Amino acid sequence: MREIKISIKNLCKKFGEKIILNNINLDIYSNEILTIIGGSGSGKSVFMRTILDLIEKDSGQIFCDGIEINSKTKKDFYSKIAVLFQSNALFDSMNIEENILFPFINRTDITKENQNQLLNEVLKSVGLQKDIKNLSISEISGGMQKRVALARTIITKPSVIFLDEPTSGLDIKTSGAIFDLIKNLAEKYKITFFIITHDVFIAPKISNRISLIKNGSLTFIESDQVEKEFLTN
Ligand SMILES: Nc1ncnc2c1ncn2[C@@H]1O[C@H](COP(=O)(O)OP(=O)(O)OP(=O)(O)O)[C@@H](O)[C@H]1O
Ligand SMILES: [Mg+2]
Repeated sequence: MREIKISIKNLCKKFGEKIILNNINLDIYSNEILTIIGGSGSGKSVFMRTILDLIEKDSGQIFCDGIEINSKTKKDFYSKIAVLFQSNALFDSMNIEENILFPFINRTDITKENQNQLLNEVLKSVGLQKDIKNLSISEISGGMQKRVALARTIITKPSVIFLDEPTSGLDIKTSGAIFDLIKNLAEKYKITFFIITHDVFIAPKISNRISLIKNGSLTFIESDQVEKEFLTN
């Protein structure tokens, strides 16, 4: 039996009369790469934000490691996960080092020396040279920005990472490199990935399961059928 990391039960969300999530049930397994595809406005980001309790659900339950996420358990849940939002959410006013170390900003339990060790480790893991640490975000390419954003997600060693459009705005070759990197990180750090993407060409190649969100419901698709299903739906 595969271990369930996150379990979503009967999740519903409406905005006004518009149904976005229509009684969704989904188990996300430990160490899998689960990819959600769907057209613009189909509810992908709302789905992710509702799982993360950043948007209030109308009904349903979310469990992580068997524990229901609620106001009491939310802090513990957040300590196990990391998120890359659709816009990267990097800080223009900070350099690369400050951006990657941002999750430690209020942490007194990790020395500066340990933070630097972790910084060097994650830079290497995402394929960035150490000497770029002092560059500002506006000085680096879109592909490098995604690598920096990924470095920031892995630095706290989360067991689950949520990625909303990790390759948006990138050319096909750079997108391929980012998806390869995600697969390598999943294997190296034993991370569960929940990925939202428009990319129906490369994402299926690195994903263990792919699901299409449409009319508020999920349908699992075989990886060789993704392109066809996406384009005809
Ligand atoms: N706060 C909100 N209030 C009202 N409607 C909202 C709100 N947030 C999202 N929606 C609506 O919910 C639907 C799903 O939005 P969502 O952002 O999840 O789409 P998406 O699949 O992520 O699209 P894209 O691929 O363009 O990012 C859209 O019709 C959107 O307008
Ligand atoms: Mg979105």
